[in-house]
Amino acid sequence: MGELMKSMAISLAVTGASGAPYALSLLRQLLLANCTVHFMISDAAKVVFATESQIKLPKNNDAIADYLRQAVGVEKLGELNVYSKNDWMSPVASGSACPKTLVVCPCSTGALSAIACGASDNLIERAADVILKEQGKLILVTREMPLSAIHLENMLKLSRLGVTIMPASPGFYHQPQSLDDLINFVVARILEHIGIEQTLVSKWGYDQPNLPTL
Ligand SMILES: Cc1cc2nc3c(=O)[nH]c(=O)nc-3n(C[C@H](O)[C@H](O)[C@H](O)COP(=O)(O)O)c2cc1C
Repeated sequence: MGELMKSMAISLAVTGASGAPYALSLLRQLLLANCTVHFMISDAAKVVFATESQIKLPKNNDAIADYLRQAVGVEKLGELNVYSKNDWMSPVASGSACPKTLVVCPCSTGALSAIACGASDNLIERAADVILKEQGKLILVTREMPLSAIHLENMLKLSRLGVTIMPASPGFYHQPQSLDDLINFVVARILEHIGIEQTLVSKWGYDQPNLPTL
């Protein structure tokens, strides 16, 4: 067998909302799908990672990539490029080179707000602004509760621009037995929206165990 073809390039930005396990699981699935992942993480997200998953990321971007590959258990598949918040020369900073899809997972309400007003003050915000102007696919996996009118207005504004607002709120109709089942629910929906085949969760109407007959 020859080398596996790279299936697609995806930008993945992690911001400081709760939900490190979603980000790690999504990264794992993207690498397993042999994607080229352009990865950005905010300073606040590094704090959340340390709080929620014991992950303390190293300083250097190549070291972060190696560390994350180990953390998600995918050593070889895909390609993982990590960028700093001022890496303005990276592909995600320009419409001429960026992947057509950016997922912000999890997406803080701060990042939501900055994206909604086009702040472009760091690479994550710039990458989102570029996707918007290029009319690419932008998926924001928000996590906050309750939501204020500011949050809701920002979501509505972005939704009207074609952004997919995908709150990290797993359903329970697949009868989750573990945390992984809940994480998989959210990650499976993200993968479906990106257009990557997922086998984490049975599709509705197929192979569903224990459904009641009403
Ligand atoms: C442990 C922890 C959990 C947090 N959870 C959330 C959250 O669920 N949603 C949110 O919008 N902000 C949350 N925050 C606050 C954000 O991290 C903070 O507003 C930060 O400025 C976001 O910056 P960023 O968008 O650059 O990552 C949390 C912070 C910490 C330390």
